[in-house]
Amino acid sequence: MKTYAPCINEFIRITKDAYLKGWHERNGGNLTYRLTNNEISEIEELFEAKEWIDLGVIVENLKNEVFLVTGSGKFFRCVELSPEENMGAIEISACGTKYRVLWGLANGAKPTSELPSHLMNHNIKFGTTNGVHRVILHSHTTNVIALTFVLPLNDEIFTRELWEMATECPVVFPAGVGIVPWMVPGGNEIAIATSELMKKYDVAIWAHHGTFCSGETLDLTFGLMDTVEKAAEILVKVLSMGGKKQTILAEEFKVLGEAFKVTLNPECLK
Ligand code: 13P
Ligand code: ZN
Repeated sequence: MKTYAPCINEFIRITKDAYLKGWHERNGGNLTYRLTNNEISEIEELFEAKEWIDLGVIVENLKNEVFLVTGSGKFFRCVELSPEENMGAIEISACGTKYRVLWGLANGAKPTSELPSHLMNHNIKFGTTNGVHRVILHSHTTNVIALTFVLPLNDEIFTRELWEMATECPVVFPAGVGIVPWMVPGGNEIAIATSELMKKYDVAIWAHHGTFCSGETLDLTFGLMDTVEKAAEILVKVLSMGGKKQTILAEEFKVLGEAFKVTLNPECLK
């Protein structure tokens, strides 16, 4: 059996775990990870650079960065079976407007169609976290999607409803979640709308489509997605049982924030 560098193995593990969660039917969802210099040196002997291709967006903060990406139309459940066909490594040009494939994406495969959204999110997060965030995961999270049909598409209301579903939620996503109204996926318009929300949040929900999470590591980003989706699952159950009869109150959230030394978004505590 072929062996891969630890960074590729970690990426594969997350695609498998996310598939097993039920978030990635067919080719649903996509994952991108910005490699460290050490990780690049671990895999650069595999690189065979292809031609430069226009991104359609400018990502000033990502010049010369190298990413692991899932392929467009490729299935998360197949990444482990054939990494070279279903994922790849890409490099961003020195001008931040082009990319080229360095490894993988065999037989003419392309990076995910959501590359503009992923890279614009990475571009924002690179600035707001001083380069600490490296991961963007987009998943077709069943319960979050279901809630976008019944909750108002409003950041504060959505956040508060999710926070109330599990005491740890406000600690895991203290800024809350942002909501993008329904838009055509795969383009620059939805990429701009999502990256605007990423200035404020680590979680952006696409109405009637899925969720984007940003994080420092693959595990933390997966964990964030899992926490948001679990809260959504509890809310779906609560609504199915006739709705809340009691809940966690705003004053209690404030005490929780103090105890865990996190600043909760005050807009969600009104
Ligand atoms: P890709 O197969 O191009 O990654 O698209 C899947 C998806 O989830 C689109 O939003
Ligand atoms: Zn999608």
